[in-house]
Amino acid sequence: MTQAADSRVAHLPTTQYFCPSGDYDEMWRRADQDPEGFWGEQAMDLDWFKRWDKVLDWKVPYARWFVGGKLNLSYQCLDRHMKTEVKNKVAFHWEGELGDTQVLTYAELYRLTNNYAAALKRLGVKRGDRVALYLPMIPALPIFMLACARIGAIFTVVFSAFSGQALADRVEDVEAKIIVTSSGMHRRGKILPLKDNAVEAAKKCPCVEKIVVVKHTGHNVEMDPARDVWLNDLLAGCDEYVEPEHMDSNDPLFVLYTSGSTGKPKGILHGTGGYSLWIAKTMQWAFNTDKKTVWWCTADIGWITGHSYVVFAPLELGLTSVMYEGAPDYPTLDRWWQIIAKYGVTILYTSPTAIRMFMRHGEEWPAKHDLSSLRILGSVGEPINPEAWLWYYRNIGHERIGISDTWWQTETGGFMISPTPGIQPHFLKPGSATKPMPGIVPAVLDAEGKELPNGETGFIVIKKPWPGMLLDIYHNPELYQKTYWSRFPGYYLPGDYCMKDQDNFLWLLGRADEVIKVAGHRISTAELESAIVGHSAVAEAAATSRPDEIKGEAIIMFVTLRKGTPPSVEIKNELTRHLRATIGTLATPEEIFFVNLLPKTRSGKIMRRLLKAVATGATIGDTSTLDDGASVDEAKAAFAELSAGSHHYKSGERNPETKPMP
Ligand code: WTA
Repeated sequence: MTQAADSRVAHLPTTQYFCPSGDYDEMWRRADQDPEGFWGEQAMDLDWFKRWDKVLDWKVPYARWFVGGKLNLSYQCLDRHMKTEVKNKVAFHWEGELGDTQVLTYAELYRLTNNYAAALKRLGVKRGDRVALYLPMIPALPIFMLACARIGAIFTVVFSAFSGQALADRVEDVEAKIIVTSSGMHRRGKILPLKDNAVEAAKKCPCVEKIVVVKHTGHNVEMDPARDVWLNDLLAGCDEYVEPEHMDSNDPLFVLYTSGSTGKPKGILHGTGGYSLWIAKTMQWAFNTDKKTVWWCTADIGWITGHSYVVFAPLELGLTSVMYEGAPDYPTLDRWWQIIAKYGVTILYTSPTAIRMFMRHGEEWPAKHDLSSLRILGSVGEPINPEAWLWYYRNIGHERIGISDTWWQTETGGFMISPTPGIQPHFLKPGSATKPMPGIVPAVLDAEGKELPNGETGFIVIKKPWPGMLLDIYHNPELYQKTYWSRFPGYYLPGDYCMKDQDNFLWLLGRADEVIKVAGHRISTAELESAIVGHSAVAEAAATSRPDEIKGEAIIMFVTLRKGTPPSVEIKNELTRHLRATIGTLATPEEIFFVNLLPKTRSGKIMRRLLKAVATGATIGDTSTLDDGASVDEAKAAFAELSAGSHHYKSGERNPETKPMP
């Protein structure tokens, strides 16, 4: 891996931003040497109801920022703009998949947020209560997030492509009183019945008192008057001003579930003060935003990128954003480029998967539209391969503008490693996220925790706390300690491989753990395994991934069936349906291998490297780096067993004929 990454560095061109200058090195040094002084100054840009007593209280593994300070994020995003010219500026140009549009000014968003906050209060939601938001990309979603923040209710947004069961798991863990959903959502011309999933979850979770339903699709929706209420009915008479709660800087703001090493997703808990500051500052630094910025982050709000950079940071900065409900290729492959030309988007922030998809369809689609309003491009969610970077740079940026490849995680709240054209222009290398943000002190370690020299690949760690750092894992401090702080004590462990090159540029090289990134969406092998063994025909299962040209990674599953169920296309389809119903569409496996036995070491550990080798078509020789304790002989025997006795099916395969493994 080191060699491959090095050669990428060596042969790829560099490019430069055309941006104002600042002094990146000086800012980074200041934040490193005097974090309290630096962040105390930065935090003056927020409106505090009460100033903090202490900038940072750091007792490994808990960082508490702006201790004693009081503020409210909905106030940062809305109220304070009511005194400036931002008041009548557009906050969101919303566009539905069907082409319907809505323009929301800051003043309108402020009014609606107050109304929704009053409505939540009327339902009995109080400070500290939890509310689950299971909504598509419609204006009601950011409004409800702001309304919850306003009254101090902790919200958890559940991505709308998750199934009713996945919603129930999250609602139950967070003990939400209310689920907010919509009648349905539009996706590639179809209506998906979200409300039905919300009902399924509410039936499984006694904590749920009410389902609030936003009318968005025209189809008929059954309502249970004892439990369900239309948003419009609830809003009648809710037109008063709602005083924003004075939240403590370290009060929880939201819980966002993400995948890790366990079968159940973990609730990442973010706070108020540090988070609000971190996302606003990193957005300015990575994208050099200004009053004229028209921002479009294409991420779904159900993921952290949407929380931080569709909703909160752009509003804190008083920017105009585009928000689009539908699929990128619907009804035609130039939908996105139409949107950019129509609204004069100046910054496009999207994922490598989307770029690779457009790349496959050809440059004629973007070429049809005037993209000259663009000033900066962004990428997030997975490593961007140099080919996709260059395609994006040439065909969308027309070789005039730079790309901010931002590396970060749900846990980090905001960008960690990224170009910083808002501070200082610097060279870019296609495929590298470049340099750490001010306040971020990374290192690359080997398995023993020794710092590696430049050019070698190891585990990235972050040596110091930063303001956007998660507060905890919701209701699970042991898991928090174990996941992020136990392998290299005192350092935060993100779980990614990284290499620092000779120019000190950082190359983030994918996950070093059992997390898979499918189209940038995070899912874990343990979650897939625990879901599939829930099917009565499955005895045992293991999940792994294989590189995918478009999606980055694709899910591959190895399954041993119980006696009496022979491998067949029918059972494969049945298991795929089961995974989609248990987790959601993102859990669809690319391929399922039915095997007699899973390869295990003497101590009972699954030989994951071996499975990966089989899934990727590699040979047994490639597994010599087995790090799970298996001997080469054991691995060879297991490989032979797998090769002799397995059947595999590709996703969508119709031919019932079973094939032996390659
Ligand atoms: C990966 C998404 C390389 C990484 C914001 C990380 C990236 C995981 C990049 C977090 C990038 C995100 N380059 N890899 N620019 N951005 N990743 O929590 O593996 O959904 O650990 O947050 O995505 O995924 P999450």
